[in-house]
Amino acid sequence: MTENDKPTARNRDDQDSLGGRVKRYARVGSAFGGLAARYAGGRIFGLTIDRPVHAAELTAALGGLKGPLMKVAQILATVPDMLPEEYTAELAQLQTNAPSMGWAFVKRRMTAELGPNWRDRFATFEHQAAAAASLGQVHRAVAHDGRRLACKLQYPDMASAVEADLKQLKLVFSIYRRYDRAIDPTNIHAELSARLREELDYDREARHMAIYDRMLSGEPGVHVPEPVPELCTDRLLSMTWLDGESLLSFVDQHMDDRNTVARNMFRAWYVPFYEYGILHGDPHLGNYTVRPDGAVNLMDFGCIRVFNADFIGAVIDLYWALCRDDLDLAVHAYETWGFSNMDRKVIDILNQWARFLYQPLMEDRVQRIQDNGGTMYGAQVAGKIHRELREIGGITPPREFVLMDRAAIGLGSVFTRLQAEVNWHRMFHELIQDFDVKAVAKRQKSVLEDQNLPLPE
Ligand SMILES: Nc1ncnc2c1ncn2[C@@H]1O[C@H](COP(=O)(O)OP(=O)(O)O)[C@@H](O)[C@H]1O
Ligand SMILES: [Mg+2]
Repeated sequence: MTENDKPTARNRDDQDSLGGRVKRYARVGSAFGGLAARYAGGRIFGLTIDRPVHAAELTAALGGLKGPLMKVAQILATVPDMLPEEYTAELAQLQTNAPSMGWAFVKRRMTAELGPNWRDRFATFEHQAAAAASLGQVHRAVAHDGRRLACKLQYPDMASAVEADLKQLKLVFSIYRRYDRAIDPTNIHAELSARLREELDYDREARHMAIYDRMLSGEPGVHVPEPVPELCTDRLLSMTWLDGESLLSFVDQHMDDRNTVARNMFRAWYVPFYEYGILHGDPHLGNYTVRPDGAVNLMDFGCIRVFNADFIGAVIDLYWALCRDDLDLAVHAYETWGFSNMDRKVIDILNQWARFLYQPLMEDRVQRIQDNGGTMYGAQVAGKIHRELREIGGITPPREFVLMDRAAIGLGSVFTRLQAEVNWHRMFHELIQDFDVKAVAKRQKSVLEDQNLPLPE
């Protein structure tokens, strides 16, 4: 063994961590193997697959994923009925149990980000990761001014892992396409590719965070971390630590508290959307916590969608179209969103979907989101829409549609879990009563330019 080959503390640690990650990826294949066996002949991608070879083909394709698994799980969950819930749960589970970078590895990564004297820049920096992130991990630290910090540090080589997964996802989508033509996922892939690539850029995320802080500055029930620019790079995001509990720990609280949380979540998502045309596209349970007073800590600004203000106008137009049974206005809204070649059948199917989502907003009364049938009803509506889409040869949802739909569904399930009883109609009307497309465009331009971010096309 030459001097160079000897395992030093440095590269031993490296090997352990990387070995751990490789193992994690290898487990994906075997985990899916078991699921595929259970699902062969069962439902995959929303339809019955009778030939086990199809299940095997999909399993092989999914097993080839090697990067940020949690994101992939979330992406696949975006296409309704594409994967059985067990698949998505399994993917998320693999991520949660992923081994973290060891201390020696972290030191080297931090040196690469902030230079050899990086430790002098913090009062303390915890060796153990406090939480897993999809592209890295989060460490607690304390700044010299005493502020408690969360430092999100990216794994090395994530750019190539993301590219490899996007390529693999294309394959998964094309297999899906051969079984089911209800939804053409081309634009979904394009949209999620753009967002995932942006997510690699923590500097951009810090700017998104600053924008959110500004957009939500009038909201006492929503808190946003503050980035610490001198401790941030493209691959390291240092921000103030926000204390809170998982939303799930609120599920058993008194109804007033649950309603408060629900209202704060609604404001956190929809004030930026209706006033600025900006949406947090990832209402995943790990991306917010709740304070004892019911205020929401909003985190993770890696998946932010900026919409053309006209698009938001169409969201509101569609609401009025449904309230007034105005077919022309509905068509105008769908066209503004980028749907094309719409005949009566397509409009009919889209209206069924829209009525389902808008229902809780349309009646001026206190109600639970699930009052209109609950999650089972949701699955039934989705199933019916899916079948009808297949019958007419399928549709291609426009890019913008993807995250808007995902946010609505994600928030709906949060409100269902909370069993919140709220007058959604009033909350919605408060947001849209002064709506003006030009004012939205102007506010949006101002917050984006302030952070040197591009305007939407
Ligand atoms: N400012 C913060 N304060 C407290 N915990 C945080 C903060 N930012 C992130 N976390 C924790 O780290 C986890 C991962 O961070 P997140 O930004 O969601 O990463 P990712 O973009 O990879 O999903 C979160 O689920 C949360 O538990
Ligand atoms: Mg997250």
